[in-house]
Amino acid sequence: MIVLGIETSCDETAVGIVEDGKTLLANAVFSSMDLHTVYGGVVPEIAARSHIESMTPVLQEALQAAFPSLSDEEAWSKIDAIAVTYGAGLGGSLLIGVMTARTLAITKNKPLYAINHVEAHVYANFLTDTKLPNYQLPSNQPEFPLLALIVSGGHTQLASFNDHFDYTLLGRTRDDAIGEAFDKVAKVTGLPYPGGPSITAAAKQGDPLKYSFPKSKLDEKYEFSFSGVKTAVLRTAQEEIGEDFTFPSHKVPERLSDAQRNDIAASFQRIAIETVVDKAVLAYKEYLPKSVVIAGGVAASTELRKQLSDRLPCPIEYTDLKLCTDNGAMIATLGCYKAMLNQETADPYSLEIAPNLSM
Ligand code: KG4
Ligand code: ZN
Repeated sequence: MIVLGIETSCDETAVGIVEDGKTLLANAVFSSMDLHTVYGGVVPEIAARSHIESMTPVLQEALQAAFPSLSDEEAWSKIDAIAVTYGAGLGGSLLIGVMTARTLAITKNKPLYAINHVEAHVYANFLTDTKLPNYQLPSNQPEFPLLALIVSGGHTQLASFNDHFDYTLLGRTRDDAIGEAFDKVAKVTGLPYPGGPSITAAAKQGDPLKYSFPKSKLDEKYEFSFSGVKTAVLRTAQEEIGEDFTFPSHKVPERLSDAQRNDIAASFQRIAIETVVDKAVLAYKEYLPKSVVIAGGVAASTELRKQLSDRLPCPIEYTDLKLCTDNGAMIATLGCYKAMLNQETADPYSLEIAPNLSM
């Protein structure tokens, strides 16, 4: 079973090709990130336009990578099905991927699978083999029951999977996602977008114990909140430069010293990551899963990987960083399981986007 997966929910135009839900054949990604950096966040109109421009070359690149010696037509004859992200995400961006997939499903006569982006992040962990250079994949596929910590720019949640397509959402964030908090803290301290990598780099030079930002305290065991720590970072930065809470946040970065910026980054990172690790460890103890996986852009965080490995009472494997941030391979992987386990196909003449889709 070979599935081609298309992902365009945010600023990555991505096409992946996966065999049998475990072998990675291609993972082509073009990110329009650089076009958004000056704005400190993704601009939906620019992202959508970039998807239109990049879709055909990225598709071509994926087919070439998976089947280097075959013509276009021969390569398509190897593809058994097409999978596409239909939600959650930016409407204009999702439309480009979904319309591309619908068109290909009709013209190439392939079954089409509609994929939930957040569920697909979890499936990146099922890839264990590849001939592609520079991929470090886990040695074993995760086993059910499976605990998944999903941490991205749009989501922060814990899910317990009994089996494929049989899961319970244990809890989610009430306000900001953890990646969003990284991005906002980066903006307020003058670090570049996206905040995950830039805060990680600044934190290396900073003191993680310099500031004690608050950890959210919520009644529901597995719910998260990151708006409090984000505000606490702004207040601390304002105090550090000798101003009060009325001082405009966009003027804070130019007044912070590098040392202050690095200490804020390190202290924020420690607390934000501890918050999700605390709950993952709690859920592990309650549900005693056979495997634990992390998924989503923030799963690339070295601090998260370190804290989890130190504190989980079970071994945990991590996938390649390139499969943590948005990519088409995770869409193709979930597509493989949908196809192999006879899940419902989507109608290529009518599949609609679902920008607010949840798990
Ligand atoms: O999964 P993703 O690529 O897009 C969404 O579906 O949201 O996640 C993007 C998020 C951004 O907020 C970014 O700051 C964060 O992932 N991120 C990281 C790292 N790389 C990306 N966070 C922490 N450490 C990283 N190395
Ligand atoms: Zn994502």
